[in-house]
Amino acid sequence: MTGGCPLEGEVRVSGAKNAALPIMCAALLTVKPLVLTNVPGLADVSTAARLLGQMGVAVERSDDGLMTLRAAQITSRVAPYELVKTMRASVLVLGPLLARFGEASVSLPGGCAIGARPVDQHIKGLQAMGATIVIEHGYMNARAERLRGARVVMDLVTVTGTENLMMAATLAEGSTVLENAAREPEVVDLANCLIAMGARIEGAGTDVIRIEGVGSLAGAAHRVMPDRIESGTLLAAAAAAGGKIRLIGALPETLDATLTKLREAGATIVAGKDTIEIEMSRRPAAVSVRTAPYPGFATDMQAQFMALATVASGTATITETIFENRMMHALEMRRLGADITIQGTTAVVRGVEKLQGAKVMATDLRASAGLVVAGLVAQGETLVDRIYHLDRGYEALEKKLGALGARIRRVK
Ligand code: EPZ
Repeated sequence: MTGGCPLEGEVRVSGAKNAALPIMCAALLTVKPLVLTNVPGLADVSTAARLLGQMGVAVERSDDGLMTLRAAQITSRVAPYELVKTMRASVLVLGPLLARFGEASVSLPGGCAIGARPVDQHIKGLQAMGATIVIEHGYMNARAERLRGARVVMDLVTVTGTENLMMAATLAEGSTVLENAAREPEVVDLANCLIAMGARIEGAGTDVIRIEGVGSLAGAAHRVMPDRIESGTLLAAAAAAGGKIRLIGALPETLDATLTKLREAGATIVAGKDTIEIEMSRRPAAVSVRTAPYPGFATDMQAQFMALATVASGTATITETIFENRMMHALEMRRLGADITIQGTTAVVRGVEKLQGAKVMATDLRASAGLVVAGLVAQGETLVDRIYHLDRGYEALEKKLGALGARIRRVK
């Protein structure tokens, strides 16, 4: 891409990756069809469709975001390493398989670029609900006559941990209480889908979720919520590059922390019912951020805000509290001329007038988004390598940015 162009125009936000993935796994809980709309066209969604398909789930997709899943004939209860290693969210089949069939064999996810990301909370919660889980040859082999409701106090806030246990509890005997549950909007979207399928859930979106087990679940139709991280990424790009853009099909109330920080950086933001308009006509002011579980500032927005800070006026501190190794994009941004000092999980970013384009390498999904934002403002040409990371979580980001005036193209 060649930096220096302000962004102008309208762009539609896609469905949320981190809502679509657990909701697709929820199809395992019923023999009836689950009909989804606004499903984003992402690599991770294709991986999840493949994972479910090799279990016997009939997955039909069309280009306009419609997806139907039928788990009437499950032929395998195994989530193999080959698929799990490419997408950790595969662990989300564990709860549903145990709830419906009483057995599952799910590969341990293994390492990840941004941190160890263990699944001990998933295991602890399922064991509390009566599952026996043996780890052998890199797989979690789980069995349960019938899961029974339990009171689970999560040791830490975990998004997919909360989602796995919530799905397992929908068919367990009796009631389950999840304390210290994740409050992310994607957890709420999953709960809304499960409730439409006949589950009895209260408190999703708060840190205490109560689930009353039922005998079986029906099918349902559900529209996946808009992606708040894609929304935040597009807004951060406009704040860095300057200009005026309007997001269509967004959900402003799910990214309050990001909007507040963008206003602090000097952007004018007008949030409508399902639109967000941003105007930035000056150099951004330095804004410090500290990631936290929702409703705090999202860790998935950290790299994008570091990119913004590299060209801001002043010095910002970017502190990552969720993952232990989510600063690799800082080293790549230095190649663009950014002045960043890393101290543990805090980056001190002194804004510079201009970045210079260079070759950089993406290391993980949101790092690649941060590098794209930086490339939009760097003088000259920036080439971001390994953008297969980007395609995991963004639907044709270069097309959306190009339509807004960015000089950006995919290089084979
Ligand atoms: C979800 O991952 C998201 N993925 C991540 O988005 C997001 O960054 C993360 O939540 C935090 O918001 C999906 O929803 C598919 P966690 P998840 O369990 O659930 C530790 C993206 O870019 N932990 O909330 O895996 C863990 O190591 C991706 O779209 C345990 O120690 O994250 C981490 O430090 C990246 N034991 C912290 O908790 C456990 O059993 C939060 O992890 C579980 C988690």
